[in-house]
Amino acid sequence: MNFVEWTAEMSVGSDALDDHHKMIIDCLNDLHPLLETHAPEDKVLAVMAKLEDFVLVHFSQEEQDMKRAGYPDWQAHKALHDSMYDVVFALKSDIQNGENVDAQRLFQLIQDWLVTHILGEDRKYVPYMTDPAAKPVAQWKRSNGRDC
Ligand SMILES: [Fe+2]
Ligand SMILES: [Fe+2]
Repeated sequence: MNFVEWTAEMSVGSDALDDHHKMIIDCLNDLHPLLETHAPEDKVLAVMAKLEDFVLVHFSQEEQDMKRAGYPDWQAHKALHDSMYDVVFALKSDIQNGENVDAQRLFQLIQDWLVTHILGEDRKYVPYMTDPAAKPVAQWKRSNGRDC
């Protein structure tokens, strides 16, 4: 059984971004038992490297989509992404440096990412991505050279 499951209530109204979230959740589910069983460092680092890649690609795509959709708080959202990336990077560095990464810290990462971020922050931009009424504002801003 997976440690975390993607559910329909996590959907952000974009198949591409939902797929990213699912891939990130898969990575976290792969990582959890490795840490619990103190698996060899190279196995843990391989999953961490994949997670880091997915997170970077996802954040970049999500930031572009938020700007394009005219979501007004995209910069504050980007700052949250930057701090989440710092957590992933620090975790990977700790493993590389032979530090003991405890399950509590991983759990915190998952909680911050899933509960606070996808269900909280990511869902705030959903109306801008899905509501056609929000589009003209974004188009107006772009045609007037405004970067949201
Ligand atoms: Fe996000
Ligand atoms: Fe996201």
